[in-house]
Amino acid sequence: MSDAPSTQPLQADATEASRYSGARIIAVTSGKGGVGKTFVSANLAAALARRGKRVLVLDADLGLANLDVVLNLHPKLTLHDVFTGKARLEEAVVAAPGGFSVLLAGSGMIEYSRLTQDVRNQFYHAVQKLAPYFDVILLDTGAGISEVVLFSISLASEVVVVATPEPTSLTDAYAAIKVLAMQQKRQHVRMIVNQAARPGDGRAITGQLQQVIDRFVMTDSGRPLRLIHMGDIPADPAVREAIMRRQLLQLLTPGCPAALAISQLANKMVETLLARAA
Ligand SMILES: Nc1ncnc2c1ncn2[C@@H]1O[C@H](COP(=O)(O)OP(=O)(O)OP(=O)(O)O)[C@@H](O)[C@H]1O
Ligand SMILES: [Mg+2]
Repeated sequence: MSDAPSTQPLQADATEASRYSGARIIAVTSGKGGVGKTFVSANLAAALARRGKRVLVLDADLGLANLDVVLNLHPKLTLHDVFTGKARLEEAVVAAPGGFSVLLAGSGMIEYSRLTQDVRNQFYHAVQKLAPYFDVILLDTGAGISEVVLFSISLASEVVVVATPEPTSLTDAYAAIKVLAMQQKRQHVRMIVNQAARPGDGRAITGQLQQVIDRFVMTDSGRPLRLIHMGDIPADPAVREAIMRRQLLQLLTPGCPAALAISQLANKMVETLLARAA
């Protein structure tokens, strides 16, 4: 597969943009690092694009998301260039293999590990400005509950927590969800269980986590935060292979179990979460 072109024009004209109130902005996050957020974001984006959705994946980990590595992209312009006035926002949006768009943060963004008000404003306005041009914006966030992670999640209307069945991943997911309920007044959070060993594992794990939440995590409404199980992705050696080759699993081995699970997730999202924008 060849490298994607360096830039892609934003495809909505004013009339089209005005028909949409804007993209669904979905944060893909996790308590623990390395659980598969970037892999899920990129491949879910490809699966949604195949279903006719206009999708943007934004490196919301401000330079640490490794989206460029997973997608084998080498863009010249990034969000860092936009924030420093060296590029226009639309110039930094690039086409990814898989038919979706990507906005990388750029390595300079690591300087922003402490967020100033100016960076917050710029980040917020960048997302708002892009929203009319897409049906979905996936924010590939960092792990945990740092200031940057929580701020990027705050830009999203929906939060998807990726967790693996490992106890450490689940306790960290619980901690992150608790903060989201308290600080961001979230009433619900969606869960994807990645690297599941057996079918049904994810639903059982989500149920167990919900039981703990029912006891200890109340929302403003006085009810416990609700976990919505979106689906599971099995542990699959083809994932590592695709990442080693820097290709999308959805394109390299679309029939493997993990790719099929992501296709199912995309179907479910199109029918439910994204039905409004259809
Ligand atoms: N379903 C899966 N089956 C097998 N391996 C997987 C699966 N999902 C992810 N992995 C492995 O986990 C690694 C980490 O994935 P990824 O980089 O997407 O995690 P991340 O949550 O984005 O990490 P970070 O917190 O550092 O941003 C991948 O390189 C891959 O090898
Ligand atoms: Mg990542």
